Amino acid sequence: MKLPYAEPYKIKTVEKLYRSTLEEREKWIKEAKYNLFKLKSYQVFIDLLTDSGTGAMSDEQWAEMMRGDEAYAGSRSFELLYNTVKRLTGYEYLIPTHQGRGAEHVLFSVLVNEGDLVPGNMHFDTTKAHIEVRKGIPVDCTIDEAYDTSVYHPFKGNVDLNKLEKVFKENPREKIPLVLLTVTCNTAGGQPVSMENIRQVSALCKKYGIPLYFDAARFAENAYFIKKREHAYKDKTIKEIVREMFSYGDGMLMSAKKDGLVNIGGFIALKDRETYRKAIVPAIVYEGYLTYGGMAGRDMGALAVGLDEATEFDYLESRIRQVHYLGLRLMEMEVPVQQPIGGHAIYLDANRFVPTIPREQFRAQSLAVELYRVGGIRGVEIGAIMADRDPVTRENRFPKLELVRLAIPRRVYTDNHMNYVAEVLKMIYDTRHEAKTGYRIVYEPPILRHFSVELEKI
Ligand SMILES: Cc1ncc(COP(=O)(O)O)c(C=O)c1O
Repeated sequence: MKLPYAEPYKIKTVEKLYRSTLEEREKWIKEAKYNLFKLKSYQVFIDLLTDSGTGAMSDEQWAEMMRGDEAYAGSRSFELLYNTVKRLTGYEYLIPTHQGRGAEHVLFSVLVNEGDLVPGNMHFDTTKAHIEVRKGIPVDCTIDEAYDTSVYHPFKGNVDLNKLEKVFKENPREKIPLVLLTVTCNTAGGQPVSMENIRQVSALCKKYGIPLYFDAARFAENAYFIKKREHAYKDKTIKEIVREMFSYGDGMLMSAKKDGLVNIGGFIALKDRETYRKAIVPAIVYEGYLTYGGMAGRDMGALAVGLDEATEFDYLESRIRQVHYLGLRLMEMEVPVQQPIGGHAIYLDANRFVPTIPREQFRAQSLAVELYRVGGIRGVEIGAIMADRDPVTRENRFPKLELVRLAIPRRVYTDNHMNYVAEVLKMIYDTRHEAKTGYRIVYEPPILRHFSVELEKI
């Protein structure tokens, strides 16, 4: 007998949400210059801006916060984190950092030099930036299916082995300091990488003598998809799958704000002592002493507990099924979404949703603003505004996909909130033909403009 899924926890503390009026939201979004990043959180009813650092902690995590040992060196909280990471990943060496990009900064400081290539599966923005700051070159080797939102593939985060081997063959070994595999692949829409692909990438890396690292922010969600979609793993526990995944690599970079189930934190975990010894220098210079690295003792304790909770099947089942529940409701209503639904977010396809708004008037941003105006729901534009201008011509870049991402925080909202989101979207979808105009930019910085851009309604 297979029982239906349900959250394996009950709610002990609640946080009040303010239900604003349409008039208030119209005033606030105008004051925010139609930039959702500029809204205050009380002005938002359901906040789907990001799943990073926005999750809810458990009573066990809060208890560990109280037990936090704040000794500068050798704290009990560090020991707890060290033992947990070692047990879950098999990696021997641990360097805590303040968050994921701190880990990127430290590791790439010792591995990446000018002109180096770092192949992977669609590196995340900050990862790419850290490689480029060091004048390295991120190389995207993701399978072609990842770029077609209408085809189904169970593991759209997979690496195309031919593309990867081509990079290995055409460049000297010393120009490729590492391969970076992002699990799940955020940029492809939270799409997983299969164990088979991880194993093959690892074998290819070994053949050419190149280390393999994981960008592991959503490693537990990746393990869930392996269990559900790769037959050989259906009877394995999530912890067994996680341990096997990491066994194929040399180390990992972690943004603990996702599958660490904490609001801040990160780390590097490594197999090899040589690399660890090199990394401790920038770690101490930029992050902090080796047994805290930018985190308070209490934060390391909460993270240790969070890592164990995030690698429990029942938790993952309710987390990912909730994301899919929203996706399926939208698909039933024929609201256009990117498929298949990934692990942490729904992506609305603005090109199909509001083709009546000219691209030059930022259709995905227009849809994101409308979702806030009508329902107080905050998502984020992943389209022409985020794509910035061409650095040479200074013309706007219009990417193939114009998306609005709705990222679902972990253990925060109920399925009823998901119903609310679906119904608001249906209301907007039913009147989509009336949308004819969008926005024009009145202020923008030279790069990363989406955070501070100011817009005006046309
Ligand atoms: C795949 C991936 N890598 C790295 C990062 C950076 O982590 P942080 O935001 O903790 O600096 C993120 C953040 O969203 C991410 O999704």
